[in-house]
Amino acid sequence: MAPSTGIKKIKTAVFISGTGSNLLSLIKFSKLKKSPISINIVISNNAKSKGLNYSKQFKIKKKIYNFKIRNLAEKKILLELKRNEIDLICLAGFMKILSKNFIDNFKGKILNIHPSLLPKFKGLNTHERALKNKENFSGCTVHYVNSKLDSGKVILQKKVKINKNETSKTLRDKILKQEHKLYPEAIKKIFNS
Ligand code: GRF
Repeated sequence: MAPSTGIKKIKTAVFISGTGSNLLSLIKFSKLKKSPISINIVISNNAKSKGLNYSKQFKIKKKIYNFKIRNLAEKKILLELKRNEIDLICLAGFMKILSKNFIDNFKGKILNIHPSLLPKFKGLNTHERALKNKENFSGCTVHYVNSKLDSGKVILQKKVKINKNETSKTLRDKILKQEHKLYPEAIKKIFNS
């Protein structure tokens, strides 16, 4: 049999808390021959995350951690990531704030996607706030994670127009669609592929 000449992919962990539509888009992306990443583990703080079903569907290892005592959860996660030789973390709707200590362990190797044009509307309820503020545009951002919430260096952004009769739901759906394209694009950008 001819030896495998496959390029080594970057072993990636995706952290989720909810629906996992970004997880699905990242899984699909990772399956492409040209993708620089493989997704080796899905981590959640919430056993009820719908997105965990994708780990079953695509046969990806999953682990759930209770964040009541954050330090303890993070310690266990770091061990698990080491065990799986993870070299990149993609936060995708992960609703817990990681400690500086955790982030320092993966310096420059944690990405996040946020549903606004950062630095505008950091934190929660972004769509409601964008509408309340009468913005003409909103969008999404992929950025590096540092120890300040939604404040790390921006990798890519996508702008979307806010229409006259926009509701937070229509805006959320419209932006989410763009998120699914933006996250893979941002990963391609940082790995020059
Ligand atoms: C997305 O809007 C993401 O930007 C935000 O949380 C949402 C997660 O959606 N951080 P999903 O779980 O990926 O469907």
